[in-house]
Amino acid sequence: MARVNEHYLKLKAGYLFPEIGRRVRAFAAANPSAKVIRLGIGDVTRPLPPAVLSAFHDAVSELGDEKTFMGYGPEQGYDFLIDTLIEKAYAPLGVHLKRSEIFISDGSKCDTANILDIFALDNKVAIGDPVYPVYNDTNVMIGRSGPADERGYYQGIVYLPCTEANGFFPDVPKEKVDIVYLCSPNNPTGTVATKAQLKGWVDYALANDVVIFFDAAYEAFITEPGYPRSIYEIEGAKRCAVEFRSFSKTAGFTGVRCALTVVPEEVTAKTPTGERVALGKLWNRRQTTKFNGVSYPVQRAAAAVYSDEGWRQTKAIVDYYMENAKIIREGLAGAGLAIHGGVNAPYIWLKTPGGISSWDFFDRLLTECNVVGTPGSGFGPSGEGFFRLSAFGNRDNVVEAVERIRKNLR
Ligand code: MLT
Repeated sequence: MARVNEHYLKLKAGYLFPEIGRRVRAFAAANPSAKVIRLGIGDVTRPLPPAVLSAFHDAVSELGDEKTFMGYGPEQGYDFLIDTLIEKAYAPLGVHLKRSEIFISDGSKCDTANILDIFALDNKVAIGDPVYPVYNDTNVMIGRSGPADERGYYQGIVYLPCTEANGFFPDVPKEKVDIVYLCSPNNPTGTVATKAQLKGWVDYALANDVVIFFDAAYEAFITEPGYPRSIYEIEGAKRCAVEFRSFSKTAGFTGVRCALTVVPEEVTAKTPTGERVALGKLWNRRQTTKFNGVSYPVQRAAAAVYSDEGWRQTKAIVDYYMENAKIIREGLAGAGLAIHGGVNAPYIWLKTPGGISSWDFFDRLLTECNVVGTPGSGFGPSGEGFFRLSAFGNRDNVVEAVERIRKNLR
């Protein structure tokens, strides 16, 4: 008799974004004349930068010619993309990586989930609260937790509150943990860690033999100088951190799919008998066994993001989204809402008015303003009373959504 992975049955509801999608579709079906504006899931709306599109087209054409056709590529990614990342994305930060330390993939969502394959189940994991739901749900799925309590905390996972009181940046846990997820710029709170804050975590990780999973998917949206874009800007991080980056939001690849995971040579964890094993070796083994790499045209398109023209065009799109963030921030702060984030991240984290619950505010915005956002409680219990708006919409929609919300709040 086949049996299911019973850990899946511990998960409370559907995954957050499909659940929101379901509610919005039901509303739209019942209200066909409503012009619904979606600022919920962080999905991009600007088309690919022209230089990226052109490299993509050229690479597709290569596949149509026997002389330039390519079959399977290296599971770790093509050297042309890895070298571009080493030189254009990391060297300017003073971070020097080797080819063997970068692994190209089809997304940071998958990588932050798949990396769990190479760790023992009895590792203690700490995550933020609120948090990108993938970190929580994938640990539950793999069997690292007991059931959830009535508030939504899963037994066995350590939750690090990210609240107004700590500036939405988690303090190190009091209990012993083995793995910590950090996300900066942060999804969902839109805040960004300082060098001092990350140094605190790196020092803690080195002192306590902890591995940090650092999700830097939104680093391109840092607008203010001085904030770290990579955890490897912090001394010692190469010995304790794995970093995830993505082309999804930076260059409009949410549908195209390309990301990278950095596993430095020095980062290790222990066997049951205490020997240290390089995580890069295990990750390479995992990827070469379970993954066949990202397609050649997609990797060519990704490399073109870092060409002079490609970067200028990509940066203009990032600036467009950050102008949206400013419009949302200023518009809603002007209407009396308490606003966080949106300066170095494409997410605005606002306090619901009058202390109403996150889902009640979601319903109010959907039914009264026809605007979709994401309830803060969907990211964890400490997100209750907060609401996330994404800055990835199209400008006219963003302006109209802010106007509708302002009117509703009057
Ligand atoms: C989000 O809205 O939090 C993200 O778009 C989800 C993702 O990147 O998977």
